[in-house]
Order: sequence, then structure tokens, then C-alpha cells
Amino acid sequence: MSEQFPNIEQIKKHWESAARQSLDAAGLRPTARDPYLQSVIETAMARFLTPGQKLLDLGCGDGLSTLRFARITGQAVGVDYVADFIKAAREHAAAAGIENIHFETGNILDLEPIRQNFGAFDTITTIRCLINLPDWPHQAAALEQVALTLQPGGLYLASEGWLEGLEGLNLYRGQLQLPAIPVVGYNCFISRARFAAEAQKYFEIIDYVNLGLYLFLSRVVQPLFTRPEPPSHTHHLNEVAAEIVNRGIMAAAFDSCDYCGTYILRKRG
Ligand SMILES: C[S@@+](CC[C@H](N)C(=O)[O-])C[C@H]1O[C@@H](n2cnc3c(N)ncnc32)[C@H](O)[C@@H]1O
Repeated sequence: MSEQFPNIEQIKKHWESAARQSLDAAGLRPTARDPYLQSVIETAMARFLTPGQKLLDLGCGDGLSTLRFARITGQAVGVDYVADFIKAAREHAAAAGIENIHFETGNILDLEPIRQNFGAFDTITTIRCLINLPDWPHQAAALEQVALTLQPGGLYLASEGWLEGLEGLNLYRGQLQLPAIPVVGYNCFISRARFAAEAQKYFEIIDYVNLGLYLFLSRVVQPLFTRPEPPSHTHHLNEVAAEIVNRGIMAAAFDSCDYCGTYILRKRG
């Protein structure tokens, strides 16, 4: 059983510790350990970005996704509650020579300081940020903060950790004698049904980008292929899977094991 992190302070301590090194012991970014999964999520979101959009990336970590989005929109703000991530993100932006990008410390549960500094945004992104809140009431409060920080008609692009997809993927893994994917204690997976119902208080759901094919190939096919060796996030099969998904091929496949697809929500107004 994984260690539990029952409150925000303990989860934050985990990320403060993770932020001390840009790469973990396996040579992977601590905030995005599967680089190809990160690429398919970013590609899914990038399809909804246009030049001139004022973008806010919440829980931006080291800011590399924010930079990718800013290259499209021309401007972006990244917010994270860990000061060392904000420092790293600013360094990445300076090294990339990207202007019109700001990184600020802040908590998704209280975005009033960000609203006062920057006003309302056209687009907000979260990649695995709400999942780091300890329970559904906090996650629902974060959803309200996102809505308050968007212009009417603005877009919220959300890739979190979806419970139904995790259970569906683990069902296939069990049938193939693979162990269930463990949930680390700082992650609280969200029911898509509950998220969608709550989101509809503020947003119209205009699309959902399914990433089930990538998850099936990387989390079911790859471990069967490499066994008895352990699977690896940097395996060539993941790269191939990402290429197929990024091209939109079989976009509806394996939706039952999609635990991190992207909701495209438009704020009512
Ligand atoms: C799994 S990482 C993902 C980082 C980044 N979005 C990415 O995809 O690389 C989650 C990030 O959310 C941040 N975070 C978690 N809870 C937060 C909160 N309440 N307010 C602001 N940031 C938070 C963490 O510090 C961490 O950088």
C-alpha cells in the first residue's frame, strides 16, 4: 500500500523535496516522469491554443509545458505553489529566450492574487494539478477558482487523473497477470462523472481528447513485451505510441483505459 498524504502541507512537502533536483534517480523529470505521455497531453492541448490568447498554466512545475504553450500563444503565466519550481521555470524561460512569460508562486485554491496581478485569462491549463489536492471538496474548490479566473467564453483545458480510466486499464492488466498500477499517496484520482457534473456548473464541455491508445500501448503492451525486464517510460514503443496518438489515429480507441485525457471546457458567460 502506498504512503498516504492526507493534507495539503504534506503533499506540498513532497513537491518541495522533488523540486530540489531537475531530474530524479531514473533521469526523469519529477513532475512528468513519462516524457511521451507529457508530449501527447501537450499536443492535445496545443490544438486549442491560438496566437494572442492570454494563457495561465496552473501547477506549472518546472514550466516546460508552459513554455511550449507560450510559443503558440505568445504570452503565458505559470503558477505553482513550490518556489523552487518557479525559480527553475524562470531559468528555463530565460534560457529559451522567451519573453512575455511570467512565473509566480501561488495556490490554485486561492487565485485572487493572480487575478489582481494579471486580470482574467482567455485560457487556463492544468496538467495533473487538481489530482494533487487531498480530496474532492478541495478539487471542486479549485474548479471554482479556475472558473473565477477565466473570461466568459474562455477555455479550461484539463488533463488530470481520471478514476474510471485507471480502473479500466487495471482491468486489462489484471486479465494479463500484470499488477495494478499503484496510486502514489500524493495523487487523489478524480471520477470523470463527478468532475463533468461539477464542471457543468461553470462550463460547457465542448470536447474531450481521449489518450487511451497511448495508455494501453505503454501500460499494457510494453510491460508484456519487455517482461521479465521492467517497463520503461523512455521505451521506444512509447515513442511510437505517442506518434500514433499525436497524429490523431484511432482517436477513440481504448477510451475505457484513458486515465489522463483532456477535457476542453468553455466558460459560460
Ligand atoms: C504532477 S506535477 C505536474 C507539473 C506540470 N503541470 C507538468 O505537467 O509538468 C503537479 C504540480 O502541481 C503543483 N501543485 C500541486 N498542488 C498545487 C496547488 N494547490 N497550487 C499550486 N500548485 C500546485 C506541484 O507543485 C507540481 O509542480
